[in-house]
Amino acid sequence: MALITISRMLSERTNATNLSIVSFVLLYFAWRVWMFTARPLLRLKEPKQVPYMIPFLGHALIFFRDSNKACRDARTSMGGTQEPLGMVIAGEQFYIINSPEDVTAFYNNKKSLSFDEYVQDVLISMGCSADGVEKMNKIQPHLKKNLTHAGEDFYRSQFLPGPRFNEFWPKVYTRIEAPLTQEKLLGSGITQHSLWHLCRAALLGPTLASIFGDAVLETDPSIIDTMVLFDDLSWKINYKIPLPFSRDTHAAKNKMIDFFQKYADLPVEKKSDASWFARSLQEEMEHAGLSEHDIAVFNVSVSWTALSNAFKACFWLMAFLVHDTVLFNVIQDEARSAQLEDLHASEAKLEASYPHLISLYNETLRYNGSSVSIRTVVSPTQLGQFTIPAGSRIILPTRQLHINESAFRNSHHFQADRFMDPKLAKSPGFRPFGGGVSYCPGRYLARRELVAFVVVLLSRYDIGLANPTQSTFPRLDEVKPSVGMLTPVLGDDVILLITPRS
Ligand code: HEM
Repeated sequence: MALITISRMLSERTNATNLSIVSFVLLYFAWRVWMFTARPLLRLKEPKQVPYMIPFLGHALIFFRDSNKACRDARTSMGGTQEPLGMVIAGEQFYIINSPEDVTAFYNNKKSLSFDEYVQDVLISMGCSADGVEKMNKIQPHLKKNLTHAGEDFYRSQFLPGPRFNEFWPKVYTRIEAPLTQEKLLGSGITQHSLWHLCRAALLGPTLASIFGDAVLETDPSIIDTMVLFDDLSWKINYKIPLPFSRDTHAAKNKMIDFFQKYADLPVEKKSDASWFARSLQEEMEHAGLSEHDIAVFNVSVSWTALSNAFKACFWLMAFLVHDTVLFNVIQDEARSAQLEDLHASEAKLEASYPHLISLYNETLRYNGSSVSIRTVVSPTQLGQFTIPAGSRIILPTRQLHINESAFRNSHHFQADRFMDPKLAKSPGFRPFGGGVSYCPGRYLARRELVAFVVVLLSRYDIGLANPTQSTFPRLDEVKPSVGMLTPVLGDDVILLITPRS
């Protein structure tokens, strides 16, 4: 009797389990049909959705593992189309764009596509308080705009060619050149140098000190290591990875906030050599009533944007150079024959004096960059024949754009002289510095820094690989999510042999 009861109960439970499985399968099937067959028919004007298996999560796992591959695979799975495509990432609806025409429309649209939400999101993830964000967004009557937009004006005024840049640049140059003197570089008898560390030494501290004044480096000499670490982990902030999985990023970020709070406590006279930009921004943030903590958060984001890309671009550019003898000789001749004062002349003169080096620089940005621009869609937006619904976000992964064959022939091939035709650098498919409202204000500074670094190094020294027969080209880390220049795979480096010029 007991056996019969147990067997009946088991059978009922099995039936219930079977029913649950069947219901689940039916529900899942209905969801798939609705999402990827019926719904698109009702929304013919919207871009196609790339199908995914798990509701809410969408393409998140593959995207966080390798965002470039995720975008590439999405496009391949949809027949290699150039149209915008919908992707769901952790519950958020994104549209990925790829064609140069859509890119131009995306950057030109200042009405229905907003960059402000993204900036706010980043500030909050960086630790800015709600009160701080509110104050940043409040219109300042004497500026006739809010502090975020005024800050963008300050950037442009300081870093785009013009009187303030002309006054700023020689100070940057002096600091870049300082670690490259014979005394500093070869004084201790060491002739073998890690390229990665050389680029860091010549570009990070010098740029930071030029912006915030020399005292910034005295506050804590380990700050550059912390910044590099934070930069390495910062993708977790951009992709809003939950705290339990991003403690390392937040620890590095908090260390930087503490650092900038200590910097704030330094007497004003110690910071008198800070740039016009840093002093004006500090004044305006204090005037708007931001707390010391929020001001420090803002300064962390300033240093992050200003430092994180140029030294990596420099590393790759030099790596290409020392691994190609023909290219090396061309660039060395150029560096040694041009007048050194051309480094400080107009942009046009710089381009005319170092055409091969600037072509190599642009190709490096194209080949090893992975910048991303994001906009929030505030009202339905027309992109070509498609309407992008309000509330979603549009992502432009420039790496995909830069390997688009319609914009760059043989795009998978590194070709140092590709940009000898200067028109190519102005083409809509080349966007290493973004565009529109978020167009990088540091683009001229970055270019000048790299040209200065290479010219000073090649004109003063004989450079080569320390171990030409064994040196392998550093591998590009394409897997770690990136929003700027890619880094080499951890541990990959180039060891240079540097000797006084014979
Ligand atoms: C090779 C070096 C650099 C690369 C590849 C680069 C790339 C970019 C890109 C792609 C954007 C646009 C991001 C978007 O659309 O959301 C951007 C924005 C920005 N960059 Fe750069 N950048 C470089 C150097 C610099 C430097 C040296 C500075 C410092 C002055 C700087 C300051 C900024 C700022 C402040 C923004 C945000 C603009 C805004 O909020 O409106 N960048 N950069």
